[in-house]
Amino acid sequence: MRILLTGGAGYIGSHTAAVLAQRGHEIMILDNFANAERDVPARLKQLTGQDMTVIEADIRDTETVTAALKAHPVEAVIHFAALKAVGESEVDPLLYYDMNIIGTIRLLQAMQAAGVNRIVFSSSATVYGQPDSTPILEDAPTRVENIYGRTKLVMEDLIRDLARTGKLKGAANLRYFNPVGAHPSALIGETPRGVPNNLMPYVTQVATGERPHLNVFGNDYPTRDGTGERDYIHVMDLAEAHALAVEHIHANDVSVTVNLGTGNGTTVLELVKAFETATGREIPVNITPRRPGDVASYYANPALAAQLFGWQAALNVEDMCRDAWRWQAKRAGINDV
Ligand code: NAD
Ligand code: WQD
Repeated sequence: MRILLTGGAGYIGSHTAAVLAQRGHEIMILDNFANAERDVPARLKQLTGQDMTVIEADIRDTETVTAALKAHPVEAVIHFAALKAVGESEVDPLLYYDMNIIGTIRLLQAMQAAGVNRIVFSSSATVYGQPDSTPILEDAPTRVENIYGRTKLVMEDLIRDLARTGKLKGAANLRYFNPVGAHPSALIGETPRGVPNNLMPYVTQVATGERPHLNVFGNDYPTRDGTGERDYIHVMDLAEAHALAVEHIHANDVSVTVNLGTGNGTTVLELVKAFETATGREIPVNITPRRPGDVASYYANPALAAQLFGWQAALNVEDMCRDAWRWQAKRAGINDV
């Protein structure tokens, strides 16, 4: 298939581009490089041998996106481009409505104008908010707990509406749990700007010595060791799931909403231990109060992805830690990994 990846130079998009190219698909990347490094396409070429077409554009620029889709016809779009910082979304809601919701509407308009009618969308487990129970199934109630989560739910609804009314032939809303790790080659990975908000990038920066210790946000949650429990998923497993999802909606003309997680919960302290085991690096920790807005525990029931497109995560938390560390160590110039 020929597939357009919006945000294809970003963290999850670049790994998905690598996996799709390796499965024989032809990839076009559309990215404004607001949160991506310029040489990601060159690194993807080194990794896959494919010289991917790259369009530098904003998804809100319907004219340019339509022209790109007409000049390079594709059978599907995988839509990663978005702003994704929960805290920032609460500071500047209109920015998030504009970039995420208006951006998605503009993209859907461009797709319609160019006759492209299949989309895979990056949603998030954040749409479940504080869950009533775990593991979480796709029919669990959705709850908006921040502006970022609101935009994800609205974008999912837009896509479901277009599928229901026949404007889209195929659609997959993929609800990611906590993506971490990097390509085992250490050629692509996650590059957060400034102080990382998320656990794994923070841990890898403690391991390089860039930060003295990890602040553990609360050890009084009702979990095995009192620290927050999440369903971490290796970005390579996540990328594989996108390939299977796009192939599934292409073959079957269906609209689906699917969890992508491993089904296993890991606490903060368990992740730290797994990191130390996988890398031999010590991670000093400092217990601090809870981070406002955090939930105690959530993890997926990923059975639907297995049933629909035969996907299930293959990599474990130690694999995630090892690959996240190889990437970060290489960037920090540490060579003994
Ligand atoms: P990322 O920031 O690394 O990638 C997003 C890419 O989109 C970047 O390359 C950025 O330059 C580009 N972009 C942003 N706004 C754009 C615009 N208006 N026009 C064109 N390009 C634009 O983020 P990621 O972690 O790879 O996330 C990808 C998607 O997955 C996002 O939609 C995010 O909300 C979703 N998601 C991420 C996580 C996570 O923890 N990383 C979890 C759940 C869902
Ligand atoms: C994981 C655990 C923290 C940092 C966020 C978004 C979510 C989704 C994924 C996009 C929690 C603890 C963290 C630290 C810590 N993104 N922690 N010290 O909060 O589950 O999800 O990213 O859709 O929408 O909210 O991920 O990695 O920030 O936190 O103790 O320095 O690690 O309290 O228990 P989270 P996270």
